[in-house]
Amino acid sequence: MALLEVENLTKRFGGLVANRDISLRVEAGEIAAIIGPNGAGKSTLFNGLVGHHAPTSGHVRFDGDEVTGRAPEAIARRGLVRTYQIPRSFPAMTVLENVMVGALLRHPKLDAAREAARRVLDEVGLGDRGTMRAGDLNVAGQKRIELARALATSPKMLLLDEVAGGLNPTEARTLVEILRAIHARGVTLLIVEHVLEVVMRLAQRVLVLDFGQLIASGTPEEVVRNPAVIEAYLGRKYRA
Ligand SMILES: Nc1ncnc2c1ncn2[C@@H]1O[C@H](COP(=O)(O)OP(=O)(O)OP(=O)(O)O)[C@@H](O)[C@H]1O
Ligand SMILES: [Mg+2]
Repeated sequence: MALLEVENLTKRFGGLVANRDISLRVEAGEIAAIIGPNGAGKSTLFNGLVGHHAPTSGHVRFDGDEVTGRAPEAIARRGLVRTYQIPRSFPAMTVLENVMVGALLRHPKLDAAREAARRVLDEVGLGDRGTMRAGDLNVAGQKRIELARALATSPKMLLLDEVAGGLNPTEARTLVEILRAIHARGVTLLIVEHVLEVVMRLAQRVLVLDFGQLIASGTPEEVVRNPAVIEAYLGRKYRA
């Protein structure tokens, strides 16, 4: 049984089909990536997986449980959490407090949550930033707070929505190392990423979404050579 099983998932917004009949599996211990042009439905899929909206039809199973349509907190408690493409830090709170928000899911006592948050801050390289106002960190810092807050919930599987977006190449490489370490201690990763270098370095398997549908999957090398993928990315861009 795969850790995550998505079966015929469809999400409509009025007349727009943002996710169309998507079926996929992610095995425990995998690093999988979802790529696709802007508007392909990647973030919508993540929202459906973690309970931010109820899918129009289809099923999501996580760790053996049907979680379709359940509340985000219940799904997070099962061990599935996401980060946001646009960081959702609380800018006036400290970096440590931001991460404690995640840690409180497993550690209701503040002292324990603080300890857990500190460990995660070290893990993402923000160990010396805990007392700073979150809003004073740069983009790379904001992205790491986002990662840390999700990680502080002790997930079995992390969904990362463009964590490398807006980072310079050095910052992106550091992030890849951080994600490898998180994966090495047993967290399954599903990443949505436009930065192809990050996908190529990290993912064992890549799924391609286009206009809400899965159009290809395979190793990173297979996928970048797939004519349908090249058409989805380059064809339209070059014709436009
Ligand atoms: N809450 C919503 N209400 C109506 N339409 C929405 C909503 N959320 C997303 N959409 C639409 O669904 C489609 C898919 O959007 P989504 O954000 O999932 O794409 P994406 O693949 O994450 O794109 P990007 O790479 O730009 O982040 C888009 O056409 C978007 O406008
Ligand atoms: Mg998106």
